[in-house]
Amino acid sequence: MEIKNICCIGAGYVGGPTMSVIASQCPHLRITVVDSNPERIDAWNGPDLNKLPIYEPGLAEVVAEARGRNLFFSKDIDRAILEADMIFISVNTPTKTYGKGKGMAADLKFVESCARQIAAVATSDKIVVEKSTIPVRTASSIKNILTQADGGQPDGQADEQAGGRMGRGINFHVLSNPEFLSEGTAVQDLLKPDRVLIGGDNEEAIQALTAIYAHWVPAERIITTNLWSAELSKLTANAFLAQRVSSINAISELCEVTGADVDEVARAVGADSRIGPKFLKASVGFGGSCFQKDILNLVYIARSYQLHAVADYWEQVILLNRHQRRRFADKIVRTLYDTVSGKKIAFLGWAFKKDTNDSRESAAIYVADALLAEEAEITVCDPRVSSARIYADLDALGSRSPEENRRLLKVEKDPYDTMKGAYAIAVLTEWDEFKMYDWPRIYQNMQKPAFIFDGRRLLDAQKMESIGFDYYAIGG
Ligand SMILES: NC(=O)c1ccc[n+]([C@@H]2O[C@H](COP(=O)([O-])OP(=O)(O)OC[C@H]3O[C@@H](n4cnc5c(N)ncnc54)[C@H](O)[C@@H]3O)[C@@H](O)[C@H]2O)c1
Repeated sequence: MEIKNICCIGAGYVGGPTMSVIASQCPHLRITVVDSNPERIDAWNGPDLNKLPIYEPGLAEVVAEARGRNLFFSKDIDRAILEADMIFISVNTPTKTYGKGKGMAADLKFVESCARQIAAVATSDKIVVEKSTIPVRTASSIKNILTQADGGQPDGQADEQAGGRMGRGINFHVLSNPEFLSEGTAVQDLLKPDRVLIGGDNEEAIQALTAIYAHWVPAERIITTNLWSAELSKLTANAFLAQRVSSINAISELCEVTGADVDEVARAVGADSRIGPKFLKASVGFGGSCFQKDILNLVYIARSYQLHAVADYWEQVILLNRHQRRRFADKIVRTLYDTVSGKKIAFLGWAFKKDTNDSRESAAIYVADALLAEEAEITVCDPRVSSARIYADLDALGSRSPEENRRLLKVEKDPYDTMKGAYAIAVLTEWDEFKMYDWPRIYQNMQKPAFIFDGRRLLDAQKMESIGFDYYAIGG
């Protein structure tokens, strides 16, 4: 099976960077990335590489190299499907907000509509690759849709009987190739992945995808499994990563009441080679589009198999994360003499982590919501997140009217204006540039006592205290 043409449906945080890196490493492949959102495609095609829809260090350079050569961003989804030998589905799979599984299960409507479109449009054999994170056994639904929407046998048996041959005589093979990139380091993660995971039940299809990655990924880092193992591994990996954050965050609260220092504890614990040092940084809580959604999905799947002990175990990771955000907001209110009404509180950062413009599920949203409920006046400064995005995040919570959100929360470009006259500063994202600010000047222009609540343990405690700040870092 020789692959020449690739289509990727979904030009988001995964589809855009992933396909850009494949295109840069495989100039012989023609890659077309499509999206149902025309503005996103326009932004990918825009002349100013600093205005790509996604901010990732190093991404603009990779796009500059490959775009127009063998990497294309297009609104013509049907044509891209028609021409492709291999189609990646890289669309969003958010938590369901309605119906059965509301608030827990993954919403697969976007994945399903891709499968239906592929089945309707394809006239030649295709390898369909699940790149989106999806519940275990989704490949079976995709195969079924490809069969039925294509006019094949209604029970999906055609696939089993004819090695993937569907109703109109087209072969569809489904692979699971979950993405493990981390936002903020996506390009490096894609260029040097710890592993690439390919799950499938057709050896030729697995080999075709393996051959693509083999252009830059060492063979021993390409793991092949059955479909269900690959699907479940992605959910499990995110659950384990989030679990480490919640574990150290649980200890951070204990540190605060005992006089231990969570960074010192993390260092001592992480020096154990069985544990390792990564992902042990205490914080106001994890965010991002994936951790919460994927764990909720895992919990939902476990419950649907009546595995309640398993479900309860993983759910605790989410509950602890919510607790951490809440207690950070409570700490601010308590310290400011139990009232923040009418007090200006400056937020440094809105993105869920540094080096990304993504704010989905960011801790900042929830801390802001809790403080706005106390009628605080918040001013936010983030180097990459737009004010439109910030208001959209808040409005989506539905806690108060959009007008009220705009009255109580302001977005500033200039960090010094953001903090001028504030009673307190809350550090919500670990952007490096925050460390470089002129902190004595900021102190001069704040209300006294001037408080800093460092939710990322970013700033130097001793330095801040020597300037005069009342400095609190999560975890003591
Ligand atoms: N963001 C991450 O760090 C990350 C990492 C690994 C895996 N994932 C997974 O990858 C998937 C995509 O995540 P993302 O962050 O790129 O999402 P995203 O929201 O940034 O991008 C998804 C894109 O798909 C498009 N889309 C949706 N339905 C479509 C359709 N039927 N046809 C064409 N386009 C359609 C949307 O317009 C959107 O631009 C999710 O399943 C996510 O869990 C994300």
